[in-house]
Amino acid sequence: MKRIAVVTTGGDAPGMNAAIRGVARIASSKKFQVLGFRRGWEGLITNTFTRLTPRSVGGILHLGGTILHTSRCSEFEKKEGIKKAAETLSSNHIDGLVVIGGNGSFKGALELSAFTDTMIVGIPASIDNDVFGTEETIGFDTAANTAVAEIDKIRDTAVSHERVFMIEVMGRERGFLALEIGLTVGAEIILIPEVKYRNENLYETIRENMAKGKKSGLIVAAEGIGDTRLLAEEIQQNTEAEVRLSIIGYAQRGGDPTARSRLLASLFAHKAIQLLSHKEGGRIVGLQDGRIGSVKLQKSCDTKKMLDANLLRLANLLAT
Ligand code: F6P
Repeated sequence: MKRIAVVTTGGDAPGMNAAIRGVARIASSKKFQVLGFRRGWEGLITNTFTRLTPRSVGGILHLGGTILHTSRCSEFEKKEGIKKAAETLSSNHIDGLVVIGGNGSFKGALELSAFTDTMIVGIPASIDNDVFGTEETIGFDTAANTAVAEIDKIRDTAVSHERVFMIEVMGRERGFLALEIGLTVGAEIILIPEVKYRNENLYETIRENMAKGKKSGLIVAAEGIGDTRLLAEEIQQNTEAEVRLSIIGYAQRGGDPTARSRLLASLFAHKAIQLLSHKEGGRIVGLQDGRIGSVKLQKSCDTKKMLDANLLRLANLLAT
């Protein structure tokens, strides 16, 4: 192993920079050269990169976003684009590629692996936490903490005005983030794409809570459940509650990574370089039963990560 490349693709996540730093420093300690490709897959298609050295990745550990930039690259969805990326890897004599990203990034990595001999290792980084093979992705903890801090502020208005607030958090397809946030802010109702809900049941829960003496309330909804604005209006029309909607949005994807996101990024980077040094490509690193391990890239792409039903049950129990 002489030369490795690193790329951040898909949605940015706080801690990606910590992972880049980890990859560059650990790889350099093994005398590997490290190239950082820019703007995700686009950089591999256009052969746009920068040399990463232990010094050039200084001062980024605590920063959100990604110094390499990222993109959602439509050209990489076509065979020609993937082939061009593979050619870049071979023309630059890249022995190993580290892909830092989420589900979509790993699907892209798997497709790329069919056209290249370069070993590929994935580091899961996504605020959605929906990657199979790891209990936690880089950035999830930061995004959850950002939303919790915001909702704690919103609660002040909810309590003062005796209102019900519906708070939309990120999660287009999965509810990991909404569930963790909902449980940790003490939401009365958590709505996630994985669990179908009936409006009538929501009205009933709110009416019951009011009858119990709860004068305000929090509903945490993942963006993937549908039109939260409409739902908030319907709840207001069908209950005695005064309902407001607050959408947290992209603030959850940025900001300084928490200590936990930085730690995970550093541990994952270490494991990724270890795998490449042992010539074990085609895998993603992850947290498994609290330890750092890895699974096959193919398996991660083929398997849907399951939501912890116990967590949902606990959240409901705590909301009584
Ligand atoms: O990073 C994951 C995610 O935040 C989803 O929860 C969200 O729906 C999506 O990215 C939106 O990202 P973009 O606007 O970059 O496509």
